[in-house]
Amino acid sequence: MSKVTVVGAGNVGATVANVLAHKDIVREVVLLDIKGDFAKGKALDSYQQASIDYYSTRLVGTDDYKDTANSDIVVITAGIPRKPGMSRDDLISTNAKIVGSVTKSILEHSEDPIIIIVSNPLDVMTYAAHKVSGLSDKKVFGMAGILDTARYRAFLSMELGVSVKDIQALLMGGHGDTMVPLPRYTNVAGIPVTDLISESRLDEIVERTKKGGGELVKLMGTSAWYAPGAAAAQMVAAIVRDEDRIFPVCARLNGEYGLNDIFLGVPVKLGKGGIKEVMELKLNEKEMADLNTSANHVKDVVDLFNTMGIS
Ligand code: LAC
Repeated sequence: MSKVTVVGAGNVGATVANVLAHKDIVREVVLLDIKGDFAKGKALDSYQQASIDYYSTRLVGTDDYKDTANSDIVVITAGIPRKPGMSRDDLISTNAKIVGSVTKSILEHSEDPIIIIVSNPLDVMTYAAHKVSGLSDKKVFGMAGILDTARYRAFLSMELGVSVKDIQALLMGGHGDTMVPLPRYTNVAGIPVTDLISESRLDEIVERTKKGGGELVKLMGTSAWYAPGAAAAQMVAAIVRDEDRIFPVCARLNGEYGLNDIFLGVPVKLGKGGIKEVMELKLNEKEMADLNTSANHVKDVVDLFNTMGIS
């Protein structure tokens, strides 16, 4: 059974650890935070839930990277969250330094782990962690697409008054306002969503999805955690169980969609060892144009990161 480390015991990190423990599929989850006692408290609280919700996963809280030794998978949530009025990109310099140093510290104790980035701005933090780590691009990727698609599916379910279970959808691009929900790849129990919702209403739902993270920041004064945490845990589960799930994941593109040397949300096959395949869809002209707009935005932020001289 596997060992998973979650770095950052804030709302998102603690949720990843707790949801993952509930799945009862890994032997141990280490929750690490520079605020050591806080991580210890979170892990202990989660472990005290185990006899109630009936899982065997051990939870360990720590501030010492030694305790992360030989992790198979590491989820990095460390960094500061958004406050109202901030874009994810406003976090770049603070979080790039944190994600870079966390990645280095992890690799001092685990040789060849899979690293899942959750910190924002997501696409650029994933790029940075991959660069610092020197690991294969099959093993370093980011969580955003599952979350953004989940928001899109939630809004569609509310609109139609049907179970969210029956809504299948795909969303690509960066984790920001330029993300690209894809109505042409969205269906309700096999029925094209375009048969059920008018184009103008669908446009409104797409727009709400793009700003879905910001809507929560406005409501709560900080960014979301239940859905982000569950989304990252679902990625860990797909890897641990070697499920070959098809998820939108922030992955490095090597010529797919005509894009190179960029990390961007695309559908991938996820299983043992990480990304087994990046799926290249036949997007139409409008979808491709939207994806390029999103890629260009991510590239601008990557360029900004590269001028900052953070390594
Ligand atoms: C959000 C943060 C996790 O979208 O990026 O809620």
